[in-house]
Amino acid sequence: MESFVLNNTHPMPSLGLGVYLVSDVTECERSVEAALRTGYRLIDTAAVYGNERAVGRGITASGVDRNEIFVTTKVWPSDYGYQRTKKSIARSLERLGTGYIDLLLLHQPYADYRGSWSALEDAVTGGQVRSIGVSNFRIQDLEKLLTVAKITPAVNQVERHPYFQQKDLAAFLARSEIVPEAWYPLGHGSKELLGETVFTELAKKYGKSAVQIILRWHIQSGFVAIPKSTNPRHIEQNFDIFDLTLTDAEMEAIAAIDRNRPSFRVPRWLLGAVSRVPAVRDLR
Ligand SMILES: NC(=O)c1ccc[n+]([C@@H]2O[C@H](COP(=O)([O-])OP(=O)(O)OC[C@H]3O[C@@H](n4cnc5c(N)ncnc54)[C@H](OP(=O)(O)O)[C@@H]3O)[C@@H](O)[C@H]2O)c1
Repeated sequence: MESFVLNNTHPMPSLGLGVYLVSDVTECERSVEAALRTGYRLIDTAAVYGNERAVGRGITASGVDRNEIFVTTKVWPSDYGYQRTKKSIARSLERLGTGYIDLLLLHQPYADYRGSWSALEDAVTGGQVRSIGVSNFRIQDLEKLLTVAKITPAVNQVERHPYFQQKDLAAFLARSEIVPEAWYPLGHGSKELLGETVFTELAKKYGKSAVQIILRWHIQSGFVAIPKSTNPRHIEQNFDIFDLTLTDAEMEAIAAIDRNRPSFRVPRWLLGAVSRVPAVRDLR
């Protein structure tokens, strides 16, 4: 598998398993175990997903050495502010049972994220966390954070798929040496996206599926991709993308279907958590 090198020299796998909305404990544990047995080495969870404990169990069940695995989790805005974030980190570590967190992200650019960033920096110094980053930060949010940060974020995890390619943000992140990571890499499994002619044609040419072509495109354009799947066949298929290289012309053909429009809608179950953070209410 290919890796990216973070700005603190730690390697980060280019492909991982996302577990957003995998609330069934057994299903989450099994998916993590299946992914790690397939060869995945990156698992992406978050405190607000409520499945960190299941992720930890899946890691143990896989038998893969913990030091080979890259675990990402996130701090939700209701835990922002220096002291609350410190407690959130301790709780995530207890639930995951992994000893340390490879990458810890601020989940949203709201509330007192500067105080939280300080807690993340101290967690790096204290050895609880290897790398720190952000999620859903726009250019202006990052510019603000960079004025106070002692440690430059290593990663910005954002919505990104062929209909929402985030070209300006990607250019800014490249200049700032921040690795971009794509959530919703498959547009949340959008049938319209997966049925685009450009993908069906490339799938035929390479003997792959549309999903595999999209994941390959993410990695070739410099983004870490974290597709979610609880289907063992999909988990295996999504990992089988390291034996093809899209040509420049093919990358350009995919660049051309950008609509520059996000697909994410805050789901009903998350609204409770969102409404407890005043500045997040406008996400609705
Ligand atoms: N930072 C943030 O704010 C944020 C927000 C949202 C998501 N995320 C992260 O990003 C990850 C991915 O996002 P997502 O799960 O919403 O969307 P996604 O990965 O774009 O799409 C997942 C959907 O695609 C389907 N799928 C996966 N592989 C497939 C294949 N080979 N063939 C056909 N269908 C396939 C899945 O169904 P099956 O399960 O049936 O395979 C699922 O319905 C999340 O799990 C989470 O870790 C982060």
